[in-house]
Amino acid sequence: AEAAEVVLVEDASKPEAKSLKLYQLPEQVGERVRLQGWVHRLRQQKTNFFVILRDGSGPLAQLVLSGDCIRTLDALDLTVESTIEVTGLVTKVKEGQSAPQGLEIVVDWWKIIGRAPAGEDAFEGRIHPDMDFSMRADLRHLELRGETATAVMRFRALLLRQFREWFYQNRTTEVTPPCMVQTSVEGGSTLFSFDYYGSPAYLTQSSQLYLETVLPSLGDVYCIQESFRAEKSLTRRHLSEYTHLEAELVFIKFKDLLDHLENLICDVVETLMADPIASEIVKQLNPEFVAPTRPFMRLDYRDAIKYLNEHGITKEDGTDHVVGDDIAEAAERKMTDQINRPIMLINFPKSLKSFYMKAIPGDEEFTESVDVLVPGVGEVVGGSMRISDFDELMAGYKREGIPHEPYYWFTDQRKYGTTEHGGYGLGVERLLAWFLGRYTVRECSLVYAKTRRVLR
Ligand code: 4AD
Repeated sequence: AEAAEVVLVEDASKPEAKSLKLYQLPEQVGERVRLQGWVHRLRQQKTNFFVILRDGSGPLAQLVLSGDCIRTLDALDLTVESTIEVTGLVTKVKEGQSAPQGLEIVVDWWKIIGRAPAGEDAFEGRIHPDMDFSMRADLRHLELRGETATAVMRFRALLLRQFREWFYQNRTTEVTPPCMVQTSVEGGSTLFSFDYYGSPAYLTQSSQLYLETVLPSLGDVYCIQESFRAEKSLTRRHLSEYTHLEAELVFIKFKDLLDHLENLICDVVETLMADPIASEIVKQLNPEFVAPTRPFMRLDYRDAIKYLNEHGITKEDGTDHVVGDDIAEAAERKMTDQINRPIMLINFPKSLKSFYMKAIPGDEEFTESVDVLVPGVGEVVGGSMRISDFDELMAGYKREGIPHEPYYWFTDQRKYGTTEHGGYGLGVERLLAWFLGRYTVRECSLVYAKTRRVLR
């Protein structure tokens, strides 16, 4: 106890310590630096404390504390997830020893900024990897500090950046459509509604219609926007709020839409696999990942029905699929896992799809539509060619029992210089779940669901 009387004072005679982030350390060997961060891991030995520090800038760093540095009150009380400030000398670790970035900071002064609790309320006790998923969901704010969650979130940022870069290279303009809307895109059953100054309004399910309205001014456009769905069933690939990457392309044919999707996915995957940080995360979290190759398998809906029946993949009630059936999530995933590569499932029946989808010329009961399916997840993209004819659009509203009046701004696009066009929506969390081999989309979202319902 008497040893803990030591009070550390910063030594003013030492060279000034530069305030840095941990990622900057490799260029600072031999220099004195000042760091701030969280105690990620802590190993206390008799003569040395080893602290793995985390500051959110990427790589971690190992601190070595010894002598007076481990004889202070703070040293006695040091806990995992406390925030600390240190000064020390950046040194290379000895041959044969391993430490993050191959470096060690020999600490000459330090203090606690914010002490995390010890004992019953200690961080390691509140959240740990063996915990049930639904319990961890309530502690998402703490789980996000873990190495896996951090890697997923870092990768997510790199992915979004590459999407933006890809669209920039392809002269596609980013727009930011509203979240508060007065019309539905994908039907009323999954709308979240709220009161908008006395009128009913909804949280957007899809920004598609807004993207379509700016085609005449901006040409090809895209957005990365949250979409909201009041999903009735809780599955491992449904969120109530998810990040929706949507694009709309003008003066194209259906084949162009399919080629575009294939290029987008393959190019972005390729770029990320060539990025040192991103590829390291894939190696760590999903070592089995195989980058998709062009061309993707293109499977007509009617051939998919045949495939399901020939491979004994039945409906939930145990009966065979017939043309006109919606292919349920379980069946879709079984088929995709068997084929074990990305599939473009095309030409869905009109009866299964939304009011805006273009019919196949000469095969009017089916649509120029596409779902991209990937192993482990199933559908990651839904897209189609859109109706370009005014009368066909009016018939579409009628068929789906949608009053056309609130959509006047959308209908006007067919009145003032109509065009062939098409687009799609990609679920960012689903793509991430596939890329990083995550069991559920929840792990790929910052949102934490307060739920203890069982996942299907
Ligand atoms: O197939 P969806 O419903 O299509 C649309 O919303 C179109 N209006 C998009 C468009 O053409 N612009 O949704 C598109 C994608 C799905 O393929 C899926 O990846 C994702 O959005 N998605 C969800 N992701 C997570 N949680 C949910 N509840 C999702 N619902 C759809």
